[in-house]
Amino acid sequence: MTDSIYFNGFGYYAPKRIIDNAEMCTIVDTTDEWIQSRTGIKERHIVAPGETCSDMGLVAARQALEAAGMNADEITVIMCATVSADSIVPSTATRLQQKLGATKAMAFDFNAACSGYLYGMQIAQGLLAANPEHKILLLAAEVLTSRTNWTDRTTCVLFGDGAGVAILSSEKRSPANPTIFSHNARLEGVMSAADGTQGDFLTAIGGTSGHPYKLGDTVGDEFFIKMNGREVYKHAVRNMPALCNELMDSLGYTIDDIDALIPHQANLRIIEAVGERLNMPAEKVFVNVQKYGNTSCASIPLALGEAIEQNFIRPGMRVLLTTFGGGLTWSAAILKF
Ligand code: UT7
Repeated sequence: MTDSIYFNGFGYYAPKRIIDNAEMCTIVDTTDEWIQSRTGIKERHIVAPGETCSDMGLVAARQALEAAGMNADEITVIMCATVSADSIVPSTATRLQQKLGATKAMAFDFNAACSGYLYGMQIAQGLLAANPEHKILLLAAEVLTSRTNWTDRTTCVLFGDGAGVAILSSEKRSPANPTIFSHNARLEGVMSAADGTQGDFLTAIGGTSGHPYKLGDTVGDEFFIKMNGREVYKHAVRNMPALCNELMDSLGYTIDDIDALIPHQANLRIIEAVGERLNMPAEKVFVNVQKYGNTSCASIPLALGEAIEQNFIRPGMRVLLTTFGGGLTWSAAILKF
């Protein structure tokens, strides 16, 4: 058994191509003013043709391994959170295993939508409790634009692509050549929740057992992400703060013990509402939704990575993460840097 779980290294990657709001206005009937005032988004990164979750994951994984001072063949578990996998079979995690040469790792994908990175922390907690020797590579990667309906202005302006990696183990490490991502942040706690009765508010069902295609079928709009934005919004601003409070209570903390808040980067209004409901001063809330849009489960690791690079997160700080997404699912976690 172990009750200490450390993030030995982080990594993140966003694809090079950027679609700003001006370009979005050439794709659908929208305006920069509408997008910014309703969401805070200015631009989003999208993959090059053929670029996959595991390609992005490879860049982030190399960064995280270097930060941890670890070789790929030390990794025993690769798990990938995604709703936009390279393929249904093989999994994105096994693709990454092959690309990294992480020959000793078991590998699997899982789907907790936007909450995947935090759900992954909780799965890692269980794996490390069962075997403290594990060295876990947690990838959260999305090519959401592969499930984006570019004729639906209510969704296509929101999404972007990206990936992030954390290396988790039960030991602190001192890499010979530390990088900016060589933190030994400790996972103090993580909680996750779901409400399947609300699942129809956010869907992508085409090409699955629930909605199979036959050879020659035309892909319909059911293939792409559909969302009842208002309902998802309401659940987000209610459930994220509630779970954060439950987690803080369970650890004996109040908001005064938290030095920074990193909420899921889906919408600036949701981020601000969550901060306000938690009584968190705005200057302690990290925001980068303006650069990436909503990248689903990649949003927290993209934000963590940038927050570390920008010195927004520094050693000694206690950081609250919270996320929300399809399923519906939601999570909260506290890391001590
Ligand atoms: O990561 C998973 C979690 N997902 C989320 O966090 C999403 C949560 N929801 C939201 O962020 C917001 O609900 C949205 C940003 C998706 C939408 O904002 P809203 O203030 O709830 O707008 P709405 O959907 O109620 O639409 C208001 C109006 C509508 O026009 P009418 O019917 O009032 O005439 C829409 O047709 O805005 C119109 N509209 C647009 N107009 C210009 C919707 N999308 C656009 C657009 N450009 N892109």
